[in-house]
Amino acid sequence: MRRLSLLGLFVPLALAACASPPPPAPRATDGVGMVAAADPRAVDAGLEMLRKGGSATDAAIATMAVLGLVEPQSAGIGGGAFLLNYDRASKDIDAYDGRERAPMGATANLFLGADGKPLPYRDAVWSGLSTGAPSMIAMFEKAHADHGRLPWRDLFEPAIKLAEEGFIVAPRLAGLLQMMGPQSALKQDPVAGKYFYDANGAPLAVGARRTNPDYAATLRAIQERGARALQEGPIADAIIAQVQRAPRGGSMTHADLRNVTPRRLEPVCGPYRVYRVCGMGPPSSGAIATLSTLGLYERARPAPEGPSSVDDWSAYMWASRIAYADRDHYAADDQFVPVPTAALTDPRYLAVRAREIDVAKAPPATLQPGDPSITVGGPSLLDRWGRDRTAEMAGTTHMSVVDGDGNAVALTATIESVFGSQRMAAGFLLNNQLTDFSLDPVKNGRPVANAPAPGKRPRSSMSPTIILDGDGRLYAVIGSPGGSAIIGYVTKTVIGVIDWKLPMQEAINLANITARTGVAATEVNRLPPGVADALTARGWTLRPTQNEASGLHGIRITETGFDGGADPRREGVAKTTESRPRAK
Ligand code: DON
Repeated sequence: MRRLSLLGLFVPLALAACASPPPPAPRATDGVGMVAAADPRAVDAGLEMLRKGGSATDAAIATMAVLGLVEPQSAGIGGGAFLLNYDRASKDIDAYDGRERAPMGATANLFLGADGKPLPYRDAVWSGLSTGAPSMIAMFEKAHADHGRLPWRDLFEPAIKLAEEGFIVAPRLAGLLQMMGPQSALKQDPVAGKYFYDANGAPLAVGARRTNPDYAATLRAIQERGARALQEGPIADAIIAQVQRAPRGGSMTHADLRNVTPRRLEPVCGPYRVYRVCGMGPPSSGAIATLSTLGLYERARPAPEGPSSVDDWSAYMWASRIAYADRDHYAADDQFVPVPTAALTDPRYLAVRAREIDVAKAPPATLQPGDPSITVGGPSLLDRWGRDRTAEMAGTTHMSVVDGDGNAVALTATIESVFGSQRMAAGFLLNNQLTDFSLDPVKNGRPVANAPAPGKRPRSSMSPTIILDGDGRLYAVIGSPGGSAIIGYVTKTVIGVIDWKLPMQEAINLANITARTGVAATEVNRLPPGVADALTARGWTLRPTQNEASGLHGIRITETGFDGGADPRREGVAKTTESRPRAK
């Protein structure tokens, strides 16, 4: 969101002539920073950077370096990420794309077996075929060059120390290892099998201390050589060997590792009530789907009532259903296929789509994607693509950071599934991001927009989100893991804070309802009494779930200070540089 115009050419001259622009009006949070993320040790690393005068971007990188060690199942050096950076002085938001790309040797048939049918999903995930070139560190390098204040090498010190001294295994990591079972690719992997299991084959237990000298050595190499350390030399060799090995080896080469191209993009922004919501555009479907969900909800509920209102929940579920139908059909890597991002989030299109919403009853089991060209013109894309049902699974992390100067970062990072492809190299797990492509490149005789192609980025749902108030001041930072459900988790939380006037923590705690298909995964136990029955009476089919895979970590700025929250479904905290974490 850079404000560039012809006037910009004269700015350097004008600056030479007059004093710099007036400082922004003071806020209650000035001089204090906050980090909300999935593990207290990682949050502490971020706070350490903020106390040393680091920026939000510095703190986010340090936090992520520790998460890669203590929450290895979710994200790390072997994966990708999206980062939004809000600069308070300019009110600009930069969006960084660190999404993995398919190797140049990959084709549309990447995940088809010898019989021409898609591989069983788990075989596709637990393979070398699913790994894209790790891109998160290269993205960090770019974001740090633009917004970093501390020296690059300092950002990795807390993680190196913890990796060398050993970290205590948290219940969630131990529990997920237990769930993997003896047949898992993780246990069979020559590197991961030794790291996560003892000589008797028992997985790391809660409370065990684990060192990771390989991770420390990799971080030292990154301190010295930046992202190049992952592109050539021994770490790159280890990545390639693990990707190419049988069974189901991938085609990735050193050239693919060198081809990593993180980008700084414009965020995709749109209005919501009196606010401006900004997120990540393609290859993520995040901003498209969150903006459409919110835009539809706003039209269906001009005067929302609160979390006990069945009409409010029904409208939210309708909005989700419509937004998911459009997102599933159109969103993909816009470098490869035309994605009508602006048309799908255009107020005229949303107004037409919102007319379908009838809160008194549920929509049909199958809800068709719309055709945004009917209101905004341009060629129809509706029948160009086959209907896509790309699957997505658990394993990702989100953090929100605000520094003492009021700059902010929303960072969502991922190796895709739990433990990624379940192959490990140089102290970190390799991603299975390419199963975010549609495994089937053709549906109903038509190509799928999100089909694999050489050098293409798979569609994401990650929705790092920054919300500004009417004056362009920071209002909130939010995001979550959860695969395609991320879109529902994030929009529920935004509705919670903005419409239902809840503190961030309570908005995060609200029931997650993922209304993507005719059956809505619903945390019934977190809904106010009577709401689930009333929704069912209106024709909604709810599938009760508990503790969905959300990991919402958010920060809001109020007139009196920070209002942060950490998802009680995970192990994170929200802490300021000067306070203790608040109760969840
Ligand atoms: O990019 C995406 O949308 C997925 N790879 C994210 C996966 C995920 O969030 C799993 N979370 N628990």
